[in-house]
Amino acid sequence: MQAARSRPNGGWEWISWLYMRVSAVLLVFLVLGHLYIMHIVNSTDTIDFAFVAQRLADPFWRVYDLLILLLALSHGLNGLRGIVNDYTRPGGGWRLFWNATLWTVGLVFTVLGALVLFSFDPTAFAGR
Ligand code: HEM
Repeated sequence: MQAARSRPNGGWEWISWLYMRVSAVLLVFLVLGHLYIMHIVNSTDTIDFAFVAQRLADPFWRVYDLLILLLALSHGLNGLRGIVNDYTRPGGGWRLFWNATLWTVGLVFTVLGALVLFSFDPTAFAGR
């Protein structure tokens, strides 16, 4: 039986196809590292505000978390774009609507997530 979606021959769709695979491989390592540190070395029983504050004080973990955010969000939304393309007509209104929605969700959550990671200030909560 032939696969539902095969590898594109070139252009943006090929870049998108390749991106899905590269981001998936990177996510495996980043997410396994995250699981190991947060759930095996440490535990959700002991993770508290101080732990998170200490972790986010280190630029390495901010960049690590940012990479997971950017890769998972763009991988997931690009995967949804593929599904939208399967179910809508090229040039049609629904395709435009769903693509605009995916881009909006992507931009809003990228900005919100990056803001949390890079503007987090534990001292702002002192004395509350
Ligand atoms: C370790 C993590 C992950 C791996 C190894 C992985 C792997 C893959 C692979 C190999 C594909 C097929 C790409 C293609 O057909 O071109 C795919 C598609 C997809 N992925 Fe992931 N993925 C991961 C995480 C995620 C996450 C976190 C999300 C959501 C936020 C997500 C959402 C999707 C979607 C929506 C598709 C498209 C499904 C379809 O076309 O039917 N994935 N993923």
